[in-house]
Amino acid sequence: MSSVDLNDRIPNNVDLASDRRLRRALEQWQPAFLDWWREMGPAHGAVPEVYLRTATSVDRSGWANFGYTRMPDYRWGVFLADPEPERRIAFGDHKGEPVWQRVPGEHRAALRRLIVIQGDTEPASVEQQRHLGRTCPSGYDLRNLFQINVEEGRHLWAMVYLLHAYFGRDGREEAQALLERRSGDADRPRILTAFNERTPDWLALFMFTFLTDRDGKFQLHSLAESAFDPLSRTCRFMLTEEAHHMFVGITGLTRVVQRTCEIMREHGTGDVRRFGVIDLPTFQKYLNFHFSVTLDLFGAEVSTNAAASYTGGLKGRFHETGIEDDHRLNHARYPVLRWQDGAFRKVGAPALNALNERLRDDFIADVEAGVGRINRVVRGFEVDFEITLPHVAFNRKVGAFAGMDVTPNGAVIDAGAWRRGEEDWLPSASDRAYVRSLMPEAITEPGRFANWIAPPSRGINHQPIDFEYVRLD
Ligand SMILES: [Fe+2]
Ligand SMILES: [Fe+2]
Repeated sequence: MSSVDLNDRIPNNVDLASDRRLRRALEQWQPAFLDWWREMGPAHGAVPEVYLRTATSVDRSGWANFGYTRMPDYRWGVFLADPEPERRIAFGDHKGEPVWQRVPGEHRAALRRLIVIQGDTEPASVEQQRHLGRTCPSGYDLRNLFQINVEEGRHLWAMVYLLHAYFGRDGREEAQALLERRSGDADRPRILTAFNERTPDWLALFMFTFLTDRDGKFQLHSLAESAFDPLSRTCRFMLTEEAHHMFVGITGLTRVVQRTCEIMREHGTGDVRRFGVIDLPTFQKYLNFHFSVTLDLFGAEVSTNAAASYTGGLKGRFHETGIEDDHRLNHARYPVLRWQDGAFRKVGAPALNALNERLRDDFIADVEAGVGRINRVVRGFEVDFEITLPHVAFNRKVGAFAGMDVTPNGAVIDAGAWRRGEEDWLPSASDRAYVRSLMPEAITEPGRFANWIAPPSRGINHQPIDFEYVRLD
């Protein structure tokens, strides 16, 4: 059982009290983090008190304490899941050996890189979502935005702890740099492209949390398999928090579709913009955009880097230990989608090199289940429309399909046809302006919801839907 000294400036279950050097390093990083939060954290006119979940330990009773927190007094802590006794490396060349409690010299640079890339996404998403508080559809939704953002901040803490504790001077420099890059900044952008896109409206936020936070889930799962045990334990605890972010995504999207379908049924038309809701074709275009951008996050289909991370024991597969094979993959093959001889075909590749593709396939299966939930809402209203995922090669900027012009149905076309069709497949400037026009101001009165979204089916932590989730000054 892990316990936490709540009087500590940095709540933690890693015994910071007994490591003065580390504690001092983190206490020096903390003010810079708070400066970053004030500059880039959720913008809202009044400084609200928010009904938030705060982790005070990692066990069942402690990881989800609910109460009002006055921003920015949230207490970001460092929490690792409890160690698994006798844990052994589950895959790669070191399979069967005890896991590492320190960083082996040969893997130091690669591990640091994995941690920095993961760490960079956490503050990036806060920056991307910064202005959404001004246009929230309800106090319930504003509360969820704050919840996600404070936890992304905590995930940054989680990665910074690893950098400070295990990587010495260059780790400290990387921790500093994590506060210096900015999403979308031309000179010092965040590392991954999807984290430099804007999240300009709440439909984009729900798409982002449905899809891009789900990419995070799969990355965290594969890092949770790592032979570097502190990284594994860190990621395992982050996953418990991440589930709420994806919950906000899928329930946000189903609430949008529910409201649209109510209006469609009431007025007997799919032409619903004049009623102030999001028409399903626009919803589909947002999905096309966010899905394709998120697929790029998994990297090249065939990658020697991915192979090296696996054989080295740094990054495993999704649910590695549950897979029945030799967990070394030296002779295994995996089917990878290719454009070959005028058609998309699955072509066998060395499984070690195809690990990005495999993780992307696992991700897509998870997303498809969510799309099924959305379509059940549509069918429940007997509306004749099916939300679909675009073809994997559609609108890609990374990997084998980058530079190809492919429709959402998977037809390969020329550049002229792409230009003519693009407005039908991706949100146009006017689509975005329309969605934005639905959100002129923040709605925060308890129990009130914007017209374009249905209320949730239940409140947070068993509270009623009209609970006062945010208190404004
Ligand atoms: Fe996160
Ligand atoms: Fe997240």
